[in-house]
Amino acid sequence: MHDFEGLTALVTGGASGIGRATAELLAERGATVAVLDLDPTGVGAPLLAHRADVRDDASVRAAVAAAVAELGGLDVLVNNAGIGAQGTVEDNDDAEWHHVLDVNVVGMVRTARAALPHLRASAHAAIVNTCSVAATAGLPRRALYSATKGAVHALTLAMAADHVREGIRVNCVNPGTADTPWIGRLLDAADDPAAERAALEARQPSGRLVSAAEVAGAIAYLASPLSGATTGTALAVDGGMQGLRLRPAGS
Ligand SMILES: NC(=O)c1ccc[n+]([C@@H]2O[C@H](COP(=O)([O-])OP(=O)(O)OC[C@H]3O[C@@H](n4cnc5c(N)ncnc54)[C@H](O)[C@@H]3O)[C@@H](O)[C@H]2O)c1
Repeated sequence: MHDFEGLTALVTGGASGIGRATAELLAERGATVAVLDLDPTGVGAPLLAHRADVRDDASVRAAVAAAVAELGGLDVLVNNAGIGAQGTVEDNDDAEWHHVLDVNVVGMVRTARAALPHLRASAHAAIVNTCSVAATAGLPRRALYSATKGAVHALTLAMAADHVREGIRVNCVNPGTADTPWIGRLLDAADDPAAERAALEARQPSGRLVSAAEVAGAIAYLASPLSGATTGTALAVDGGMQGLRLRPAGS
């Protein structure tokens, strides 16, 4: 499929995991793609790479401007850079709350703000935000992370309303637990990584983790010119975690 032929895309957090899989898939489907990441080491052709910290407005504006100059315009922004946090409301101090909100929520605002003037010039403009099942389901020990993703969900709807008449579509994907380096780090830090992995797999009705490629496929679907009537939606890519209620196996 070459639905992105002639189009350009920018993927934040595109050096690893879901962002990397998305950048590679958009390129396979014909787009010219630039990655914006805190650490773009290891990102090579055909992807273009720009170093930026989404917590720093000047750094984001400079990287977006440089990427757009190299790409010759911008049709698709994938707002994907994000970090995790664990704990109940009693566990994370104010500094950590501000830090994670700054990356996961304000970071998306900064890149969108820098990209919008360029997206307005596109005939197929689309923004896709990486949200999470944590925005729509209560998960234990994820108070701060869930609050940021709930904000991303609301932000997606508000942005979709603000920009629909400019021809810019805004949607988000809500992955379940996805098998990325992030989850690898989480498992490595667990007392019993095998038991932790089994628990995460069992939490999803599909009985397995979501792959980065499956999330990338959903992001590409939402970003594609073939989805021109789709805006203001949250697409679950979670093995049924949000919507299904199974009985125990065999019953
Ligand atoms: N892995 C999961 O289970 C899962 C589930 C739901 C949602 N998500 C979301 O998917 C997105 C990607 O997660 P992943 O699992 O691929 O993680 P990952 O850690 O593999 O990749 C995240 C990338 O973001 C970059 N990044 C982090 N902070 C940044 C900053 N301040 N500025 C610029 N780049 C920065 C990192 O360098 C890294 O390349 C995140 O928004 C995350 O919340 C992940």
